[in-house]
Amino acid sequence: MTPSTADPALELIQLSVEFVESDGSLEVLSELNFEIAKNSFVCLIGPSGGGKSTLLRAISGLIPVSQGKIILSGEPVQVIKQKQKYRTRVGMVFQKPNLMPWRTLWQNISLPLEIAKLSPEEIASRVYDLVELMGLQGFEKSYPHELSGGMAQRVAIARALAQDPDLLLLDEPFAQLDALNRERMGEELMRVWEEKQKTVLMVTHAIDEAVFLSDRVLVFSKRPAQLMLDLPISLERPRNNNVRYSPKFVALTQELHAALS
Ligand SMILES: Nc1ncnc2c1ncn2[C@@H]1O[C@H](COP(=O)(O)OP(=O)(O)O)[C@@H](O)[C@H]1O
Ligand SMILES: [Mg+2]
Repeated sequence: MTPSTADPALELIQLSVEFVESDGSLEVLSELNFEIAKNSFVCLIGPSGGGKSTLLRAISGLIPVSQGKIILSGEPVQVIKQKQKYRTRVGMVFQKPNLMPWRTLWQNISLPLEIAKLSPEEIASRVYDLVELMGLQGFEKSYPHELSGGMAQRVAIARALAQDPDLLLLDEPFAQLDALNRERMGEELMRVWEEKQKTVLMVTHAIDEAVFLSDRVLVFSKRPAQLMLDLPISLERPRNNNVRYSPKFVALTQELHAALS
């Protein structure tokens, strides 16, 4: 069991989400209860169609919940109004980078800051730092079509971090990358997380990726999603690639495999 923290970044209380349609309703999340400690890295794994993306969308305030509550940094999450496009409390990264094709790399990262109406000096300083942090120097003037998949996803992560969100949500962010690039991006993300001290909730299909990155891995059941396993990952930090070959790592991946099959 993960101890409950006095100051959790995220709390889900009896959270249920169902989609109501003309031909009936679909219960996707069922009475979920868990919390995520501040500055921890948590991965979420589960069957496809099980409600993982739905949970992230509910946490970001993109869809309403049917029952229960989501508390982010002590305050309940409200559904975002139509015009309020960007939200400062949560940064979200999807499987596809979703960059604006007509904007340069620099302009893509600055977009949420422009919408938030920060001063040009503040925007320039933040974007500069994010370009450094994500190792994107030299590509500031490139357009999305000129970037590799990994590079574009780095831009998406930088953009999500631009408003210094309380929580970073990542929905299978490396699913479209090849195995080697996926590993590299995982290491990169871990470095950024260590440097920025962020709370991260990331959905992934890759068990090894989840074990490598996480303090804790949550396993969802089939729909309606319930928490089947809450597995602490007590591998020492800082971690490097060698940890993947340790007996402890292998035992943890086996445990997750068993829970999912
Ligand atoms: N806006 C929606 N309206 C109706 N059904 C939806 C909507 N969004 C997702 N669903 C359904 O909810 C279920 C869970 O989807 P999702 O959260 O995307 O699963 P996962 O991310 O775990 O693969 C699926 O059956 C999907 O078809
Ligand atoms: Mg999904």
